[in-house]
Amino acid sequence: MPKKLSKKDFLKTPKGTRDIMPHDALIWRAIESKVGEIASAYGFKFIRTPHIEHAELFAPTLGEASDIVEKQMYAFKTGGGDNLVLRPEWTVPAVRAYFEHGMHSWPQPVMLYTYGSFFRHENPQKGRFREFGQFDLEVLGDESGAADALVVRVFSIIFQELGFKNFIVHINTLGDKECRGEYRKELVAYYRRKINSLCKDCRNRLKTNPLRLLDCKEPSCQELKEGAPKTIDFVCQSCRAHFKNVLEFLDELAVPYFIDPRLVRGLDYYSRTVFEVFAERVQTKKENQEDKEKAENIKDASKTAVDSNDKTAENKPEEASLIALGGGGRYDYLAESLGQKKLFGVGVAIGLDRLAEELKNRSAGLTREKKPDIYMVQLGPQAKKKTLAMFESLRKAKFNVAQSLAKDSLRAQLQSADKAGAALALIIGQKEALDGTIIIRDMSTGAQETVLQEKILDNLKKKLKILANPQAPGKAEVK
Ligand code: HAM
Repeated sequence: MPKKLSKKDFLKTPKGTRDIMPHDALIWRAIESKVGEIASAYGFKFIRTPHIEHAELFAPTLGEASDIVEKQMYAFKTGGGDNLVLRPEWTVPAVRAYFEHGMHSWPQPVMLYTYGSFFRHENPQKGRFREFGQFDLEVLGDESGAADALVVRVFSIIFQELGFKNFIVHINTLGDKECRGEYRKELVAYYRRKINSLCKDCRNRLKTNPLRLLDCKEPSCQELKEGAPKTIDFVCQSCRAHFKNVLEFLDELAVPYFIDPRLVRGLDYYSRTVFEVFAERVQTKKENQEDKEKAENIKDASKTAVDSNDKTAENKPEEASLIALGGGGRYDYLAESLGQKKLFGVGVAIGLDRLAEELKNRSAGLTREKKPDIYMVQLGPQAKKKTLAMFESLRKAKFNVAQSLAKDSLRAQLQSADKAGAALALIIGQKEALDGTIIIRDMSTGAQETVLQEKILDNLKKKLKILANPQAPGKAEVK
């Protein structure tokens, strides 16, 4: 029975979704442009894929017992009988696109990136939504540890360039299909001995997907995790060598990491390398005061983890002050679980909602709007028409130009120009509209000069050049 909405709720976004309002949307755009710029520089190609995919893609890849497949997918049947879902993540669609478009015939590896909306029906909480943004990078067709390191490297450069100083990559290896069996057995034996202390979900996971026990957020299960076997003690020689290779690359690239030997991820398709990136949370003033001492310890701890050779969980920074910004790993069996040929792959996804929130707190200057060079001021209907036409020619000539056509008084418009930080105002009144002239006003000195409208582009170029470099010769020449 469909839920009937009250009149009040009818005008609200559905639970777990929100409007990203203009100021915040600027942050999103700035992030998307920065991550796109870095990904492209490293050779990743942008691709857009649909927001809907066939449901059949996800159960065999993410895992029947994964939270996403079990309870978080927005699935629906179309009138034509197709089972579709709103995409919950992008690794599977990227692999689907690889095969659909015959990318095996392209030079390998194929390096793709995208960003956009993803959908998971989870309980909304701080930083988690039902429609959320992700930025994804995938390297398809490369088995080497260098590919894993490249992905982590690009990811960390993005964080650096966005202004994060204290971030750290938690990294682990899960082994491959063969050696993971041994580990799984050992893990199940360990948790069977502790079954009475496990939460209800974890008792189930013990039967369906024991690795996920390590991912449980219940405090009692978290405590048990500390004594659980470590994956690194069970992986085979070749997985160990692969992992060593990844770490050597990361050392070479000076990416801060520590090995978390019990790190697993919530999706079944991972093999070998898995990682998550954490950044130090920005605290509110109050929190900052309360936690000052604690924060100092965390910095020391993460520094030790990075500096020392012992990059293990024992040196792990305090998690309460860290926020997870994204994660990823290798998925060498994913294509086979879709009935395709073997395809090596490694990738990462950054959650954009939390990142945007953090950047807002950090006031990283990402969205500082550029001050206009020129502010157009008009007085009267005739002048308004002229202003509109001139606005377009100035915009085309690449001037950064602003206006407030809705305002009529000279004073109000000059106040807006001042507030916007414009260098020059261009004023057209009835008289100027008729005789083809325009007034240029220097907003800092108030000095005004009348020039011919047809000469305006040259005049503006000269004036702005002088304002940008007041010492340069030629100031007296401007007419
Ligand atoms: P994931 O860990 O499920 O991995 O998601 C990656 C990131 O997306 C998370 O770390 C988080 O920041 C963000 N995220 C996930 N769910 C939500 C939500 N409900 N609200 C807000 N943010 C969310 C993947 O999706 C993998 N496909 C990553 C990957 C790429 N592995 C290999 N390649």
